[in-house]
Order: sequence, then structure tokens, then C-alpha cells
Amino acid sequence: MELIKSDLSATIRERVGNLPTLPDVALKLLELTGDDDVSINQLMQVISHDPAISSRILKVANSAYYGFSRQVTAIDHAITLLGLDMVRSLALSMKVFDYFRGIKSGGFFNLADFWLHSIAVSSIARDFVQLVPLGPRDLLFTAGLLHDIGKLLLLDLLDIRYLDLIRAVEKEKVQLHKMEKMYLGMDHAQTGAFLLERWEFPQEIVLIIHDHHLNLDQQRLDSVQAVILADILAREVGLGTSGNVAPDGHVEDILQNLGIDIAQWDLFCSNYKSRSEKKITDLMSVFS
Ligand SMILES: [Fe+2]
Ligand SMILES: [Fe+2]
Repeated sequence: MELIKSDLSATIRERVGNLPTLPDVALKLLELTGDDDVSINQLMQVISHDPAISSRILKVANSAYYGFSRQVTAIDHAITLLGLDMVRSLALSMKVFDYFRGIKSGGFFNLADFWLHSIAVSSIARDFVQLVPLGPRDLLFTAGLLHDIGKLLLLDLLDIRYLDLIRAVEKEKVQLHKMEKMYLGMDHAQTGAFLLERWEFPQEIVLIIHDHHLNLDQQRLDSVQAVILADILAREVGLGTSGNVAPDGHVEDILQNLGIDIAQWDLFCSNYKSRSEKKITDLMSVFS
């Protein structure tokens, strides 16, 4: 295998520009995103048009992750229990992931591990607001779930060429986003942000995804740091992988920037670790 350097950013942008828009259900969910006055009824109306989403939301409500004592069988009950913002975010992310269902993976890039990594990052990022309020929980949850979505897009567009790149990253223990930039002209953070921008996602989510591999001084929102820390912790506890083997980000610098002391962070991490892996992996079945 020989990696070839070429700037594919124009091609990638053109291909993304030609992708179909998201299905109607997702567009309606996007319209409801950021609207604080949305009612359970409104959300139910949108979701009930999509039986696959409805059944997966019920599956989440009945998962060990939430551990509710009684069986949840009605979608309005699930919305009440999980929260409107969480259901909106889950349903929207499911539609994005559905777009990439059936994508071929292989070698060092395993889709099951990718889902697990994404779910772990979203769950940690959402809980991170306990330490410092960096924005709405559902926004961090969505950004966490979709932060590496650009990798699926690159895999979809470039196929074996992208898998070869990931293999080289694994062998040389370098950071994936740097190799992407060097060999493709565009990294997965830029690619993912470009895709979600085209799909008209809220600007804050697009910015978090775009900036998640930039240096601290280049990041435009503090909320991106919740996703970066969540990514580090998810990898540390071995919840999934997403083709990146080299560590990035300096935990101490980020904590200092956010005004969190190391003892607080350590406590957050050990609390997180004590939540069983089973709970997180249980959520996987609704995405993969
Ligand atoms: Fe990433
Ligand atoms: Fe990641």
C-alpha cells in the first residue's frame, strides 16, 4: 500500500454538495431543535410518522442505561421519561446514522467500535455539564454523537483509500486528523462540519464538530472542550475506538481553561467508570 498525497477537499465538497438532503422526519426534527416551546404532542406527531425511530426510542427508554423500573410501551411516556430535548436529539442522530447504514468498514476501522465510541462520547459530554455549564445537555449529546461523523463520510466517499490511511495511522501511531489533512487536504472534523452545515444543523453543533481537533486557542466555543475531554475519557476506559490511536488534547490545559480542578475531574472520571460498560453498550443496539 502506498499512500498518495493529494488535495481532495474540492472533490469532497462537491460530492457532499450532491448528497441528498435528510429525510423529511429529520428536517422536521431540525426545525424543532432549539425551540424551547416544543410540546410533547408536536414531537410525537413527527416521530410517530417513523415507526423505526419510534421503536428505537422505546428501546432506549427500556434500556439498562436508563434503568426505569416499569416497561415503557407508549412513545409519549418515553418522551416524558427521557425528556423532550433528549428524544429530539436521539431521533435526529438516528436519522443521520441511518444515512450511513450499510457502509463498508474493515481492517482497523470497525463500525461497531465507532458506534460505541460515539455513544460513549455523547453520554460523557452530556454529563459533563454537571462540572461546568457549557450549554444545553441535548446539544452536547448531539455534538458528541456526531463529532466523528466526517470519518463515515470519508469512508463512504473514499473507500479503500481511507482504510489505508487508517491502517497507516495505526502503524505509525500518529494523529488521524493530521494524516487526513496531509493526505486528503481535509480532515474528518472539517468534512463532518461541512456535511452537517449542508444539512442545516444548528450552527453551534457545526462549530463544535469543526473545531474538535483544533488547538485550544483556535476553538470558538468552550463547549467543544466537553467533547474533547469526553473523547479522551471514552478512549481511556476503552469504550470503542474510531480509528484514532494517538492521544490528542492536553487534559490539564483544558481543565485550567474551564476552571475545573483536577480532583473534580478525577472524581467525574471515576464516577463515570463505575457506571457499567454494559449500560453504554446497551444503547448501541439502537444505533448500529
Ligand atoms: Fe475526531
Ligand atoms: Fe472521537
